Amino acid sequence: MDSVDFDALEHQARAKMPAASFAFCAAGADDEISVAENISGWRNLRLRPRVLRDVEDIDTSVTLLGQKLPTPIMVAPTGRHKLFNREGEAATARGAAAAGAPYVMASNSNILIEDVAAERKTAPQWFQLYYWPNRAEVEALIDRLAAAGFGALVLTVDAPVAGWSPRAAREQHEPSPDILNINMPGSPMARTAYHPDFAGKVMFPATWRELEWLVKRSPMPVLVKGVLRTDDAVACAEHGARAIIVSNHGGRHLDTTVTTAAAVGEIAAALSGQAEVYVDGGIRRGTDILKALALGARAVLIGRPIIWGLTMNGADGVRDVLEHLRVELVRAMQLTGTRSLAEAMPDLLAPN
Ligand SMILES: Cc1cc2nc3c(=O)[nH]c(=O)nc-3n(C[C@H](O)[C@H](O)[C@H](O)COP(=O)(O)O)c2cc1C
Repeated sequence: MDSVDFDALEHQARAKMPAASFAFCAAGADDEISVAENISGWRNLRLRPRVLRDVEDIDTSVTLLGQKLPTPIMVAPTGRHKLFNREGEAATARGAAAAGAPYVMASNSNILIEDVAAERKTAPQWFQLYYWPNRAEVEALIDRLAAAGFGALVLTVDAPVAGWSPRAAREQHEPSPDILNINMPGSPMARTAYHPDFAGKVMFPATWRELEWLVKRSPMPVLVKGVLRTDDAVACAEHGARAIIVSNHGGRHLDTTVTTAAAVGEIAAALSGQAEVYVDGGIRRGTDILKALALGARAVLIGRPIIWGLTMNGADGVRDVLEHLRVELVRAMQLTGTRSLAEAMPDLLAPN
């Protein structure tokens, strides 16, 4: 990576990848209002720095699901990485491991679960699950993930049907026998979800009943991704979810949702420790991360920038994106007199 500026990195990645791959990566639903607002949501929050603190030693470490990690920055689940790099998710997993960041592998990955597991170092790998209609297939997958050492299941609940992205629908990537959703039943060729064939079909029919079943059946902790309301978040915790990921799926399915920056604070307050709270969507700066933590999130997930790094420089590009965010987080903490993540409290932000 010859640029650490994310706008420049996105431009470089766009120039390097096929137009259809970029459309898939950048896509948002409908008018892409949530894509833009996810970013501006963080940028519009104002910091109230503390001064005259000793900021020589900054501690960015955090404990997630009982495991101590160097930073609160994780890799969000994004699918079809062979569209961006020949090594696919193996490169992503290696880059995340090099940075000590948890990697959430997507259901729609193009590399076998066991080959991704082989890249693991100290940071955990978690698996993002879409709940398929056939329970036996879900059970077989859970057992395979547990055997491969995955540390948690992340159930995505915000896309029972696919949304519609005019941008991605206009520029569909060609299905290719080299790019399979290899861990899904039947290992189908990867296709975009923004295709008339899928419109209106309930592809992932999870309800509260399935969440309850999953929590009982899974030997791994279950997390729920895609929650934007306090009542849902509390119900997830009551059904046994160990963490809630406040997310609108990067604005890819339902447009004009509340931003994650606006939702995370009240959700963290309502849960008050019943479950851990993580957040994603539009996080592009160390200051964004600090704001998320001040609002009560324990960690953040990064989506599209990871793909830009993967496109430019494979595993090293992924590691560089994560390292860049860590450096920015440290600087933001120093400039606000925040010595550890425990000191990132709501009073760091101006009331809006
Ligand atoms: C190309 C792409 C594919 C994605 N695929 C999935 C997926 O398969 N499952 C899922 O839960 N979220 C998926 N997401 C959403 C991300 O996990 C995450 O919520 C979002 O990208 C965060 O926003 P950001 O890209 O602005 O950082 C995808 C996002 C992108 C950009």
